[in-house]
Amino acid sequence: MKIVVLAGGLSTERDVSLVTGRCVYKALKDIGHKAVLLDVFLGYEGDADNVFDLDTDWSEKVAPVSETAPDLDAVRAMRGQAIKEFFGPNVIKICQAADIVFMALHGDVGENGKIQSAFDLLGIKYTGTDAYSSALAMNKSTSKMAFKQYGVSTPDCYMLKSADDDHKPASYPCVVKICNGGSSVGVYIVNNENEYNSAVSDAFSYDSKVMVEQYIKGREFTCCVIDGQALPIVEIEPKSGFYDYKNKYQAGSTIETCPAKLDADQTAKIQAEAIKAFNALEIQTYARMDFIMDDKGEVFCLEANTLPGMTPTSLIPQEAAAMGKSYNELCEWIIEISMKKWTDNA
Ligand SMILES: Nc1ncnc2c1ncn2[C@@H]1O[C@H](COP(=O)(O)OP(=O)(O)O)[C@@H](O)[C@H]1O
Ligand SMILES: [Mg+2]
Repeated sequence: MKIVVLAGGLSTERDVSLVTGRCVYKALKDIGHKAVLLDVFLGYEGDADNVFDLDTDWSEKVAPVSETAPDLDAVRAMRGQAIKEFFGPNVIKICQAADIVFMALHGDVGENGKIQSAFDLLGIKYTGTDAYSSALAMNKSTSKMAFKQYGVSTPDCYMLKSADDDHKPASYPCVVKICNGGSSVGVYIVNNENEYNSAVSDAFSYDSKVMVEQYIKGREFTCCVIDGQALPIVEIEPKSGFYDYKNKYQAGSTIETCPAKLDADQTAKIQAEAIKAFNALEIQTYARMDFIMDDKGEVFCLEANTLPGMTPTSLIPQEAAAMGKSYNELCEWIIEISMKKWTDNA
């Protein structure tokens, strides 16, 4: 098949997306697909005809993940002018020539449904879930509304109106987090009023929607659902602190165990909650849900990730490996179930 792997963009998760994109691209080439890797924002300046037949290694331009979130102004400056259009040169044309676009984007417009909407209107097929469920899952506030309505247990929260909102938590620790974030950017676990005040003001510099969530002390897990089936669970144990940006992407900083050491009942409970959360948000194809289990065994769903990381050390590839699927097979599986969505709706 002719497949565009779409990565990069202008989200705080840009760098991670570029690594996901490069890995998926290599896997697709390996399988025998005609693959092209594009940065959705920077596009391709060359001749866009016949790109699928070029003997180019598209993975060369990709930057490694640094310990900090990327400098998006520097990326914007690479386009050189006051750009109004999000899609880089030739991106739409090349995507329209593909059989399907593999969405290797994370965060912001890639994950919040906007690209999915544009692609629906432009007749471009893409992997993963649709625009509506992407938007619902991307916003942690609307996700929680759906969770509550469908009986998915999630930590209590309240919304802040602005950085000067004088609503204070009943107790500490608590969690201040932006509603439209990812990769733990804009997530703060705070222990006192001083930390709370500074977290609130930082959070509003990232997003106009900020929530304060009950802190759940316990073990952290994540569980992927693909095509209605829950995969083996991963336990996540950062060596220090919580699962923040550095602990997510710096090799060796977090112990990840898959399958997680849980008894059969606990495993079944988390997997059932993952499927319930997936359905509550009306997600199609695949997604990865994050959980904390407290010391009484109660399971709280934090969020659903509709375009989760796909670097070889990412969580979904580990879950797939635990059920005997290689990274290449996982990529092919995602393409197959995504294609099925288009043929079923034809
Ligand atoms: N309510 C909470 N209680 C305890 N830890 C939390 C809570 N919310 C978030 N965390 C920690 O912060 C991390 C990121 O939070 P999450 O809601 O999953 O946002 P993101 O979209 O940035 O991954 C979690 O993986 C967990 O380690
Ligand atoms: Mg998360």
